[in-house]
Amino acid sequence: EKGGWSSFMAKEVAEQPEAVANTIRGRIQDGQVVIPELDGLDELFTGINRVIITACGTASYAALVGKYAIEQWARVAVDVELAHEFRYRDPVIGADTLVVSISQSGETMDTLMAVKYARERGARTLSVCNTQGATIPRESDAVVYTHAGPEVAVASTKAFSAQITALLLLGLHMGRVRGTVADASTDVAELLALPEKVAAVLESEQEHVTQLAGWMADTRSVLFLGRHVGYPIALEGALKLKEISYIHAEGFAAGELKHGPIALIEPGQPVFVLVPSPRHSALVHSKVVSNIQEIRARGARVIVVAEEGDAAVLPFADEVIHIPLAGPMFEPLLAVVPLQIFAMALATAKGLDVDQPRNLAKSVTVE
Ligand code: F6R
Repeated sequence: EKGGWSSFMAKEVAEQPEAVANTIRGRIQDGQVVIPELDGLDELFTGINRVIITACGTASYAALVGKYAIEQWARVAVDVELAHEFRYRDPVIGADTLVVSISQSGETMDTLMAVKYARERGARTLSVCNTQGATIPRESDAVVYTHAGPEVAVASTKAFSAQITALLLLGLHMGRVRGTVADASTDVAELLALPEKVAAVLESEQEHVTQLAGWMADTRSVLFLGRHVGYPIALEGALKLKEISYIHAEGFAAGELKHGPIALIEPGQPVFVLVPSPRHSALVHSKVVSNIQEIRARGARVIVVAEEGDAAVLPFADEVIHIPLAGPMFEPLLAVVPLQIFAMALATAKGLDVDQPRNLAKSVTVE
């Protein structure tokens, strides 16, 4: 079933261009995002004044990207809540709240219980799910399926990319319905270009990143910094590394550095920095470049993920991983790929089974 691949994870990482393309397919009409499953359900999006996205683990990082996209396009406040935290307090929700759940398996008990809880409190519920007919979509008012295909490796990769894709589609769909996106043509073009760009990253960085991981097989800790939609990707890069290579890793919002994490920087400490494009915001870009200078001055080994042609990062980076140019909401789908390859290659260099990491199950059906 692995085909010629060394692991399911390697196969699933490589399948991401199709996972993204299949999730988009059938959801663009006349230059607009129209999700057929949501036909007749406009009220879900017009009758609300807030959105809560709930999920666990990797799916919660996709949720964070979704927050930026939905707020930007649909102009509605979005909070992301870990499912197991959400229902063990007394959250303020009701008929004006849309609770979006995200789950690859559709069977995660924590997420399922959060959905049931939200429904009981009168909220509207929509699930983003990769498994047809699973329990979570059955318990929700509406479902948007991701079409990543079955994911076998415990560490989620292609499902994550498909979740982000679905949330971008949902954001544009909501924006159209709510009348807050007048012209989606640029973003639709960005969406359609994604599969090829993801394939380009796989093609151009596989060898480089694998080699880098090989050199770092003895590393005991790796930090990841990101800003804006790069922040959830920093969290995801750290989670992948923890899960399959058993190396201590932390993701931080780059702006938090001086509020604490910079104390961790000592000579030789590897730090991945996800650099947002200077084309999106020169200000945000320059802030991340100063973070890089700050950690470099303290001896960090800086591995930068930046768009092609970003010359500002070159003087301060020990390694540069390039991603193609993409719109602000679309960079996460490109930036995550080298981090997945890095985790996989490092685990492999340590002789570990990347598909079956210790102590973890693919689907967490207990609380
Ligand atoms: C990480 C991973 C987990 C899952 C989480 C939610 O690689 O796989 O963090 O993302 O357990 O699972 P689903 O999406 O099935 O609800």
